[in-house]
Amino acid sequence: MPDALTIRELSKTYANGVQALRSVDLEIPPGMFGLLGPNGAGKSTLMRTVATLQDPDRGGVRLGAIDVLADKEATRRVLGYLPQDFGVYPHLTAAALLDHFAVLKGIAARGERRAVVDGLLQRVNLWTVRNKRLGGFSGGMKQRFGIAQALLGAPKLVIVDEPTAGLDPEERTRFLNLLSEIGEEVVVVLSTHIVDDVADLCAQMAIIAGGRVLRRGEPRSAIDSLVGKTWRKVIDKQHVVAHRERHTVISTRLVGGRTVIHVFDEHDPGDGFTAVDPDLEDVYFTTLRQAA
Ligand SMILES: Nc1ncnc2c1ncn2[C@@H]1O[C@H](COP(=O)(O)OP(=O)(O)OP(=O)(O)O)[C@@H](O)[C@H]1O
Ligand SMILES: [Mg+2]
Repeated sequence: MPDALTIRELSKTYANGVQALRSVDLEIPPGMFGLLGPNGAGKSTLMRTVATLQDPDRGGVRLGAIDVLADKEATRRVLGYLPQDFGVYPHLTAAALLDHFAVLKGIAARGERRAVVDGLLQRVNLWTVRNKRLGGFSGGMKQRFGIAQALLGAPKLVIVDEPTAGLDPEERTRFLNLLSEIGEEVVVVLSTHIVDDVADLCAQMAIIAGGRVLRRGEPRSAIDSLVGKTWRKVIDKQHVVAHRERHTVISTRLVGGRTVIHVFDEHDPGDGFTAVDPDLEDVYFTTLRQAA
């Protein structure tokens, strides 16, 4: 059995009084796990804590037999982490910096290190630019470099914090494909505010906001729970406010200058609405709305 990540009653209040985590409980099995939440939800706080970079006020984290918070050294040996604000040394080449990270990861033997670094550069499709300076890399190339360094040392736990924010659609797809190729034995935690990242990739997910877990489970069963309760209508934008007064609005989206409105209702709301197949975006916004 590969190791699961268990997070128990994790709480954190910053010195300025912000409660970033409020008794977070999560059971994260091997495979891709999506941590979905809006800005300020507590995603990075949670990920930095699991990555042993900061301590919570209360609670525990285990990875299989490892007590993550007590045994940071053991955790770091099996951890790959791509932080939200991953910075590279612009004057170094991709090959040189990855080699440097490999030394830090404890891969001491030069020949072994060379093989590992070359293999990873090929895997993330940066082989042809390995001797170019990172300062000239696009956002997508930098993120692919970031996942290469996170995969050094064959980690059992990979944490990637909002890796697709700011990537163009093609680079986003490339990046998600790389993530999906990490073995099924590895716990991969992907934080994002992009619902499609989770819908496309993750077998399990949690939605967090205001430091609380609002929902957890399989995206598919969350979507199924909204079948027959999600309704759609196209309206002019000046009618949005009136609809907000009459209905539980899930989302409004501009399409070709008109507004597509989704509402939640246990029963047919009438008023010109038709039933629509729910998707994970409906789940996300319904969950956030119900918690507000
Ligand atoms: N070092 C800090 N000191 C004080 N407050 C902080 C600190 N780091 C984060 N916060 C606050 O804690 C809350 C959670 O922040 P966090 O960065 O964990 O959220 P997030 O879900 O990663 O957001 P984003 O999507 O914007 O990256 C926010 O209100 C944030 O302003
Ligand atoms: Mg963040």
